[in-house]
Amino acid sequence: MAGPQRWTRPELMELLDIRGGLSRQELYDRADAVRRERMGDAVPLRGIVEFSNICANDCLYCGIRATNANIPRYRLDDAVILDLARGMEGQGQTTIVLQSGEAPSRDGDAALGRLVSRLKAETRLAVTLSVGNRPREVYAHWRDCGMDRYLLRFETSDPALFARLHPDCTLSQRLRCLGDLLDLGVQTGGGFMTGLPGETLSTGADNILLCRDLDLDMIGLGPYIPHPDTPMGQSQNVHVLDPERHFVALAATRLVNPDAHIPATTAFDALFPGTGRNLALTRGANVFMPSATPVARRPEYQLYPGKPCLDETGEACARCVLGRLAALGRQVDQGPGHSRKPGRAVSGEGAVGRGNILD
Ligand code: 5AD
Ligand code: FES
Repeated sequence: MAGPQRWTRPELMELLDIRGGLSRQELYDRADAVRRERMGDAVPLRGIVEFSNICANDCLYCGIRATNANIPRYRLDDAVILDLARGMEGQGQTTIVLQSGEAPSRDGDAALGRLVSRLKAETRLAVTLSVGNRPREVYAHWRDCGMDRYLLRFETSDPALFARLHPDCTLSQRLRCLGDLLDLGVQTGGGFMTGLPGETLSTGADNILLCRDLDLDMIGLGPYIPHPDTPMGQSQNVHVLDPERHFVALAATRLVNPDAHIPATTAFDALFPGTGRNLALTRGANVFMPSATPVARRPEYQLYPGKPCLDETGEACARCVLGRLAALGRQVDQGPGHSRKPGRAVSGEGAVGRGNILD
């Protein structure tokens, strides 16, 4: 069992509904104390390379949805990605996160497996993939190529809201993917957006409880931000008049999931320019994901407007992060940043010793 307190939905709804600066600050302080006690002050850096914006899906909120014709589509060459990875290693980072739109194909998925193998052979980085829903066999193959972790947000725990937002996928399919990844022994991240149109207080509580019930290793959450080139361009965040509620959700997520890695996500900086991710690190988050995407491609990977660091090179982001951490009295984590959950973390050597389910 994760912690001494087993939160119920009504308790969590009450927590999410607290108003007023003082009691919110108390919640933030509690979340920060739990973060420090369970995860420590060292911050794992996970450089993210948004290696392709090609997407077959049409999620209603997302700027790289298939039918958005306003952006050129790209896929970085493997040689470029390997160079970026070597640079990250030179900056002392220990994880590379490869993220793209969801574009399943036999050839593309096989090529991604080969890239993972090369990254594992040619660097000491842990490899995280975040490329959407796939059959279990594909996840198993990537694991056998050395993939350490996978990120796949469930976006919302409300099945009807999920269905309205995702013409190409159901919540149960998404949860099947997360279940497969966990079952395969891959360190697994899920999570959700806060303040989606149609979300209620009980959805907010259920989002957090679903993370706990899945026993996720990593939880990514951040404010929903309307993108003008999507059908939801005019659909405001439900917390638009009280944006601190995004931090309340973050802090509550830490209380309910004390041992999960929780990144200070970029969307917090989009909403609170220059301060959002720093505040997140003092209100429950323990991980930072500097962008390592080539500057020329960043405008083409705008899932939402206002994404920070558009003009910063990977090196500038890595330097900026050191400044942020120093200002907060935190240090860079020197270890691989694996899961803290008992039995989930591996030796840091990818698939070594875990067998092949296809055997
Ligand atoms: N606002 C905020 N977050 C978004 N994402 C996608 N579109 C938006 C948006 N408009 C998030 C989703 C996805 C992650 C990669 O980015 O949660 O899983
Ligand atoms: Fe990119 Fe600060 S994290 S410039």
